[in-house]
Amino acid sequence: MKDYIELRSDTTTHPTEEMREAMRSAPVGDDVFGEDPTVNALEALAASKMGKEAALFVPSGTMGNITALLTHCKRGDEVILESECHIYYYEVGGLSALGGMVPRPVRGENGLMEPDDVEASIRSANIHYAPPGLICVENTHNRGGGTVYGLERLAEIKAVANRHGLPMHLDGARIFNAAIALGTDVSRIASYFDSVQFCLSKGLSAPVGSVLAGGKDYIARARKYRKMLGGGMRQAGIIAAAGIVALEKMVDRLADDHANARALALGLSRIPGIELDLSTVVTNIVVFDVSRLGIGSEAFAEQLSADGVRMTTRPPHKIRAVTSRMFTAEEIPTVLEKTAKICTKHLG
Ligand SMILES: Cc1ncc(COP(=O)(O)O)c(C=O)c1O
Repeated sequence: MKDYIELRSDTTTHPTEEMREAMRSAPVGDDVFGEDPTVNALEALAASKMGKEAALFVPSGTMGNITALLTHCKRGDEVILESECHIYYYEVGGLSALGGMVPRPVRGENGLMEPDDVEASIRSANIHYAPPGLICVENTHNRGGGTVYGLERLAEIKAVANRHGLPMHLDGARIFNAAIALGTDVSRIASYFDSVQFCLSKGLSAPVGSVLAGGKDYIARARKYRKMLGGGMRQAGIIAAAGIVALEKMVDRLADDHANARALALGLSRIPGIELDLSTVVTNIVVFDVSRLGIGSEAFAEQLSADGVRMTTRPPHKIRAVTSRMFTAEEIPTVLEKTAKICTKHLG
């Protein structure tokens, strides 16, 4: 049992008992030969949920994204993406290191790009320029604070992509959170994209795994890149079984995480010394600023952790709290009390 309150990330979620049981009894085969029935079932289920022809099970969101990019682009192509998105910020520069691609960052507001800015970043066929190869969107946007692109904005970005003949990739690590926030189906969000990566191992609570979905030919080519990256797994049905439970049983409860994030954010916003824009709290991520306390985010997070509440830092002055199954509504008052204690101490 944990002896602290967990708000660092929804990646900390443990598998449910039902997942463990499904893993124990999963029929398996060699997935590199295409013979694992449980992986095949997960890929078929994921493709149908995303409204795509096919899907590919991958060990992580990072591998799903780099596989997607390698399949869309060739070396020297420019990848248009938001300047704080996960692919650019947190994936070890894989697009350049492994794929020879050139990132072309577009600044968004709380992670959300304006269609006009996306269009302005697409360069002409001038001999000096790297050719544009792909537009990436992240929904929900992690560093933006779990912010969500609405369908209208996605349609406008898609129209930009169409005008320039560019494919679109969605880093939908938390696409199910986005769908719940928008009151729509994931397949509607996915419909604007040629490829979609989503994670089973975040709020959906599977221990391992992500899925890349897209057209049949595209996924066949992606399968080869997954192998190149070392992501060809063998009796992977053991982990895919948990992914099936994640998709069938764990989606609706994400609304609880959103409600908890909202209640937490509301309480935090009332604590003197904390700055928090409530309008950005629409899913399971809460970001707030502690600069008024005269301490940095590292010091704040350390003091909170020493008192039994774990959050992550967004240096120099921001803190991130993420709600998940590892956090309950009953823990909110304790978090608020311990946060207020630190704020009182530093405000003097
Ligand atoms: C938006 C986004 N994309 C991709 C990933 C990568 O997932 P993984 O940690 O499984 O590689 C994450 C992980 O936090 C994420 O937040």
